[in-house]
Order: sequence, then structure tokens, then C-alpha cells
Amino acid sequence: MGCQYYAPCQNGATSFTVAMPKLTFGRGCLSELGQRLTQQQLKRVAVFTDPNLLNSSIMDTVKTSLTQQNIEYEIFHEVRVEPCDDTVTNAAAFYAAGQFEGAVSVGGGSVIDTTKAALAVATYDTPVMEFFAQPIGAGKAIPGPVPYHIACPTTSGTGSESTSLSVLRVNALDTKFVIAHPWLLPDAALVDPATCDSLPSNVVASCGFDLLCHALECYTSKAHTQWTQVEDPNARQLIQGANPFSDLFAPEALRIADQYLARGVADATDSEARDKLMWGATLAGIAFGNTGTHLPHAMSYGITHLMKNITTRDYPNPDPFVPHGISVIVNAPTIFEYTASATPNRHMEGATYLGADVKGATPDDAGEVLSKRLIELMQATHMPNGLLDLGFTEADVKPMAESSFRQKRAIANAPRDSNLVDLEIIYQGSLSYW
Ligand SMILES: [Fe+2]
Repeated sequence: MGCQYYAPCQNGATSFTVAMPKLTFGRGCLSELGQRLTQQQLKRVAVFTDPNLLNSSIMDTVKTSLTQQNIEYEIFHEVRVEPCDDTVTNAAAFYAAGQFEGAVSVGGGSVIDTTKAALAVATYDTPVMEFFAQPIGAGKAIPGPVPYHIACPTTSGTGSESTSLSVLRVNALDTKFVIAHPWLLPDAALVDPATCDSLPSNVVASCGFDLLCHALECYTSKAHTQWTQVEDPNARQLIQGANPFSDLFAPEALRIADQYLARGVADATDSEARDKLMWGATLAGIAFGNTGTHLPHAMSYGITHLMKNITTRDYPNPDPFVPHGISVIVNAPTIFEYTASATPNRHMEGATYLGADVKGATPDDAGEVLSKRLIELMQATHMPNGLLDLGFTEADVKPMAESSFRQKRAIANAPRDSNLVDLEIIYQGSLSYW
């Protein structure tokens, strides 16, 4: 199956590049931070976090570890959830003014993504908008390396510590776009499941579906051999499609989502389940960091662009706000039914890893089987029943499709081509499920 999926294509890529940070995983490893920085001979660092974490036990661990190694630090804590270009501009100004030798990010994807972009902006004194692809920005490549960055995720979903992506809201357009460049990849990561011990169940659920979709999207994404071969190897993006490396990680992340997602959501004291979810998020992050995502993530941006009248339980955010993982999973059952016809075996394998009942199913059933399993998991974790449950109506279908259609590379990474009408049909099919 694997070889067949990666059969050579005319003018298609014949190689793929693998990149990941030097990653440490384990309960308590956040306290290694100071020693990790000392190894890099760093004496003064910027610490990026958000207001909710500023006075947390997590930040106490960070500060103690830095102090024990006599590392000077200053904290920037103004990273908002769903960070925007202004957040990056302010974070970059903080970094540029501080004579720092490196950076630490402590938080969820918002903090890590902000830090990545801020380091590029500060290092090359370039407005962040210039790094977005055209026509949103100037499409400027990040010219070279950025200062040492060690990422410390505090949610079990983002995977941002292992990706070369920074997802930011562009204020002028009021929606999210991605800056993708290999230099954005953090140098190191400390993934400590203890940082997730106090996450509310709805946050665990959203993060769990984020990790699930990272894994499922990268496993079902277009084969890397179907992307056009790049002439300059240094220009090869890590959004490069499925490859044999990502295939090692994504299946295990999906098995973990099957076995532990509902448990981790149902019981905050189930540390086995919650630790496994952090491991699953790590595996999925490494996998999709080397493939990219596709339609579920692309179509989540239409939701966060146009969300309204939404109250979100367990999140310290002003409404309206749809947590990232929920915005991703809510269209996923319809999307995978749509994409399954392009690569039915891959979708059936994905369903199998997720624990679906595949007895007697043929490849023609792959989409339905996978969709059904996703809906079961959504119901088991009290997810919204489709877009209507999030406060959208049929009138939002067309604007959401138009908004998401701008996510060109993610859409192109899907196994099946789609046009604007296809996206509308998918949104229509995601209005409600049960
Ligand atoms: Fe995600």
C-alpha cells in the first residue's frame, strides 16, 4: 500500500525532507528548560506566554528552572488566543529591544506561533505582512535562521512545537492565514504532560480533535510524489504531502485518539488518558509538520472568520470564540466523505486506526465508515452537532466557502480537488449530523 501510494508521478517530487525539533517528552521535563538553554550557552532569553499562564504553576516551573541556571529573562505575556499581526509586531518589538540571545515559548499554539513569527520579524526587521503569501502579503521568504527557540506546549493538541507554520489572524481581513517556512521550526521542544493536568474537559476535547485531525489529514493528504518537484531543494516546503515518515507517526496518533480521547474528556483525574493524549498530540505534530494539513483545517478558517453569537464553555476568551479543534472537527465528517473517493484505502485505514467497525466494508464505503466514526467520537465528547449548533445558518454557507477558499496550499494538499461550489456543498452537509 505504502509503495503504491507513493508511486512516481510525472514531474512529481521524488524526495521529501524531514525536520523536527530536538524534542523531549515526559512528565516533569519542563524543569529541564534552564539546563537546555545553558547547553546552548544562552545567558539571556525572552519568555513568551499569555495572560492566563503568567501567574500559573507552569510559569513558576519555568522561572525556577531559569533562575537555577542563572539565566536572565524577561517575560512578554500579551499573546492573545487567535494571535493577530499586531500581536506579532508587539512581540517582535519586545524581542528586538531586549538584547536577547534566544526565546522560550510557553503556551498553546497561539503563543508558539506568535514566537515563531516574532523572531523572524525581529531578526530581519521586516513587517510580518511581508511574510504572508501573495496576495495577502508580499510572499517574502524568511531570509535565514532565526534565534534559538525552545517551545514548551501547554495543551495536548497544537503540535506547533514541531511545525514550521505560524497561524495568525490578519486584522485587515479579519481571518487567519498561515506563514510557512522551514526557518520557523523551533530548535527544541519540551513536551511535559503535567502542564495539561488542569485543563478543563472542553479544552481537552477541542485539543484532542485537533490532534486527531492533524493525524488524519496528514495520513490522507495528497502523496508527496504528486506535488511538483522543486528545482531549489532549499525551497521545498514542509507542507509537502503524505510521505513514508509521516506514515510512521499518524497511525499511532489516531489509535491514541480512539482509545483515550473520550476518557481524557470524561475524567480530569485520568492522568493515563491525558498523558497519552499529549503523546498523541506530539506524534501528530511531528507527522503533520512534515506533510501539512488539508481541508478540515482550511475550512476551519471560514468558521473562525465568520463566527458570531457563540458562547464557549471553559475558555477564558471573550465571545464570540470557537476553539480551534472544534472549528476543525465540525466539518470533518462531511469532508472525509468527500475526499474518500480519491484515496479510499487510505481513508479506510484511517478509520481502522480510529477504531471504526469496518467489518464487511468495501473501499466504496470508506467515506461513510470514517465519517460515522468521527461522529461517534464527537457525540462521546459532547461536541457541537454541526454548524447550526455553533450558531451558523444556511445563509453563512456561501460566505464561509468564499473565506476558506483563500487557503490555497492546504486545499491543494487534499487528495481530491475542490472548487468553491464543492466547499459550499461541504459546509451545507456539515450543518448538523444527528
Ligand atoms: Fe490544528
